[in-house]
Amino acid sequence: MNLKSKIINLKLFSLYLFLSATLVACDVEIRKTDAQLGLNPQQSAGRRVYDSYCYRCHEPYSSRGKKGRTLKGVFGRQFLPQSGLPANDPQVGDIIRYGRNMMPSFGQELTPQQIQDLLAYLHTL
Ligand code: HEC
Repeated sequence: MNLKSKIINLKLFSLYLFLSATLVACDVEIRKTDAQLGLNPQQSAGRRVYDSYCYRCHEPYSSRGKKGRTLKGVFGRQFLPQSGLPANDPQVGDIIRYGRNMMPSFGQELTPQQIQDLLAYLHTL
């Protein structure tokens, strides 16, 4: 390897270090594919509903809060952290259909099938 290519390599390496540091610093999440997450077809369909209707207010994988809290681990505990309501499909389904306080309702926009898919996806968080 001659000196010139060593220098180029070094430059590329510093660029790589700089970019990784920037990504870490900005808390940028690399979006995983459905396959990487191990989602089945229904859960993937639910993820698309989530991305269109829920993502702007709720983080799925980081605990960062937006307008609403993170939904990471939403079915992991017995009760929902904010409302204290039971964390089960009928209850979460109702919150999605009818809304709650500042959370809008989606009963008009989403079909029952989309809500089922969404619930299936929420179970993977
Ligand atoms: C405009 C912002 C917004 C959107 C869009 C939104 N939410 Fe919410 N969500 C909220 C807020 C704010 C709350 C807190 C409501 C309260 O005061 O109990 C909430 C609460 C919730 C809760 C209950 C949390 C708890 O601990 O009690 C669930 C579950 C939930 N949202 C799921 C969803 C799903 C699924 C979607 C997509 C269909 C969605 N939200 C879309 C703002 C939003």
